[in-house]
Amino acid sequence: DFGLMSYDPAYMNTAECKSTITYIDGDKGILEYRGYPIEQLAEHSSYLEVAYLLIYGDLPNKERLDWWRNRISRHTFIHNNLVELIQAFRYDAHPMGILISCVSAMSTLFPEAKDVDDPAVREKQIWRIIGQVPTIAAYAYRNRIGRPFNQPDNSLSYTANLLYMMDYMNQRDYQVNPVLAKALDVLFILHADHEQNCSTATMRGVGSSRVDPYSSLSAATAALYGPLHGGANEAVLRMLQQIGNVKNVPDFIDRVKKGEGRLMGFGHRVYKNYDPRAKIIRKVAYEVFEATASNPLLEIAVELERIALQDEYFIARKLYPNVDFYSGLIYQALGFPIEYFPFLFAIPRAAGWLTQWLEMLDDPEQKIMRPRQVYLGAARRDYVPLEQR
Ligand code: SDX
Repeated sequence: DFGLMSYDPAYMNTAECKSTITYIDGDKGILEYRGYPIEQLAEHSSYLEVAYLLIYGDLPNKERLDWWRNRISRHTFIHNNLVELIQAFRYDAHPMGILISCVSAMSTLFPEAKDVDDPAVREKQIWRIIGQVPTIAAYAYRNRIGRPFNQPDNSLSYTANLLYMMDYMNQRDYQVNPVLAKALDVLFILHADHEQNCSTATMRGVGSSRVDPYSSLSAATAALYGPLHGGANEAVLRMLQQIGNVKNVPDFIDRVKKGEGRLMGFGHRVYKNYDPRAKIIRKVAYEVFEATASNPLLEIAVELERIALQDEYFIARKLYPNVDFYSGLIYQALGFPIEYFPFLFAIPRAAGWLTQWLEMLDDPEQKIMRPRQVYLGAARRDYVPLEQR
């Protein structure tokens, strides 16, 4: 009889928190940032404006939005040590490994990194991370294809600048397709924050030790990398490629129902209804394919969804498409290699991670993250000398 240790409930609650940032109703499929419905933000706002909303708590007026854009654009260039670090990786190194390393390395480049109690220092660290993560993505891609780096063009929007820095042919007159830049901006809005998911809880947990935000964000990025979390968008594309043809969908569904695999991009810890983000992304996917070329994998995804939504196995388990089900198809249409899909989740989520980190630091009730356990191991016993074992 191990007896469940009696423990102070306060200990168990270090993993929980009170928050004013994002509201989710998993049964109704509701998602709101600072009270604004995600549907309205996706239609009317921009990613940078939503990042401001998350961090400062309300929509900016024109003066503040211009100020915010100027703050971020002054931080899009990366330190030469990061350029050298990116070039030290093999050309085919997974970009999430590069991002985890580069953001962690940022904690060694800025001497004030340890000073998390100074609001002015925190704000500058936030500008720097939001400004530089797209540049790290672009440089990692250019290193992968063996082409020179395109310096950031701060006359472009946040997402257009990313597309420009990644452009394949290094054309001087490269024109970013506005439909594609807008589609990426909507995707970034939808990925910006999502309450206490695995990677955000990691950001808060690591940050609760009062380490610098670069080290915390590097840990959060590692959590997001997992195929059950942000890595799912990459896994969905590989699943669709593996299915290969619409006529193979029924067999694939049968294998999933036998437990021989998962329908990646379906299911959610919180949403037991259609992920509101997936509805918007599905619409964006059709708009993007009108502006680019149709993708046979979209037909497979639509058929997978059609069958799964009617099938008792998925209905009984409340499995619906989540944010990752259609997003990879759009990234592929924008020309991103599959390995970059989780990176495209991390770039916008940086704003959410940093907002949650700020809220955690300012919460007087928040102690260092220290969940307890229920001990089920061996009862107390005496050491046994080697010759008696
Ligand atoms: C994200 O938390 C967040 O907010 C995350 C996120 C964010 O914005 O930060 O929304 C982003 O991570 C979205 C999720 C992306 N992951 C995937 O698409 C991977 C595939 N999905 C699953 O692995 C799963 O649905 C999870 C991990 C998302 C949720 O897992 P849960 O809630 O622990 O589900 P579960 O394992 O308790 O499932 C209950 C049942 C099980 O079957 P039984 O054992 O009861 O028979 O549903 C089954 C599971 O086997 N199941 C699936 C399934 N997901 C769950 N069966 C087939 N395919 C799936 N995708």
